[in-house]
Amino acid sequence: ALITLRQLLDHAAEHDYGVPAFNINNMEQGLAIMRAAQGCDAPVILQASRGARSYAGDVMLRHMVQALAEMYPDNHIVLHQDHGNNDATCLSAIRHGFTSVMMDGSLEEDMKTPASYEYNVEITARVTRAAHAVGASVEGELGVLGSLETGEAAAEDGSGAEGKLDHSQLLTDPDQALDFVSATQCDALAIACGTSHGAYKFTRKPDGDILAMHVIEAIHKRLPDTHLVMHGSSSVPQHLQDLINASGGEMPQTYGVPVEEIERGIRHGVRKVNIDTDCRMAMTGQFRKIASEKPTEFDPRKFLIPAMNELESLCRDRFERFGTAGKT
Ligand code: G3H
Ligand code: 13P
Ligand code: NA
Ligand code: ZN
Repeated sequence: ALITLRQLLDHAAEHDYGVPAFNINNMEQGLAIMRAAQGCDAPVILQASRGARSYAGDVMLRHMVQALAEMYPDNHIVLHQDHGNNDATCLSAIRHGFTSVMMDGSLEEDMKTPASYEYNVEITARVTRAAHAVGASVEGELGVLGSLETGEAAAEDGSGAEGKLDHSQLLTDPDQALDFVSATQCDALAIACGTSHGAYKFTRKPDGDILAMHVIEAIHKRLPDTHLVMHGSSSVPQHLQDLINASGGEMPQTYGVPVEEIERGIRHGVRKVNIDTDCRMAMTGQFRKIASEKPTEFDPRKFLIPAMNELESLCRDRFERFGTAGKT
């Protein structure tokens, strides 16, 4: 059944686990994620970006997730708007059956320009009032996602935004976080700790200089009852980089967020863990493998079945490592 983000994360906090929020835009991703969720008895957050909504269409997404909920009646599912950029995006998502929205006021409506604190508080508080009035949950974001190596803000598509930011903008301030949550009444808070979107997060295996998990610990001390969200949490597994590159791909060597760092976050209040890039790489790795091993193949299902299996195994691993398994 569909439930709200608030309901799921309250349960996660009570039982000390984290929940992966996997991005979806098509049926095969939905099926693979739900097979994994059913296989390990896990609740799950399915999230759609603005790009996903325009790719699949709101009507298709709504019916698809309702179909998944009907196919997997024992699993709790949250349908969440990822990176809402204004009131209209968030409110239209709720009208289309989303039970939760992210109002990302860390950036202005263009999702490129870092926003003022006052703008962020005002728009997040306004969206939260509207969402709560109809029973939906809200995730806010404080601090701009981006690289502590380059100082670049992270755009939603994994590219860098213009201009350089300093560490005070790229790392969420615990005192400001306390003020933000009480002023907005949001249900969950996305924080910035040096992660960015896409595959190219770090040029080396991250240490505390470029992945600031200590900031999460400080925020959790200050706000022990707030559900924290980590964006840009793909691990960019080496085996998937190798799979892609073994069959004609040319992804330069890169590093993501090690799963053990996410586990550390979950011990310190992280309840929602956003993952898109790893899912994309799992499917693409198998597409490439089949395309290169079987050049005469032209039935999409022969590509999509192995792609779904690879995604299912990735999702199972995250459910198990995050403690989500067995919690539905
Ligand atoms: O936040 C970023 C997600 O990976 C969504 O990406 O806007 O290309 O669907 P997208
Ligand atoms: P990744 O690009 O690391 O998968 O992050 C996804 C994300 O944060 C979606 O909001
Ligand atoms: Na989100
Ligand atoms: Zn994100």
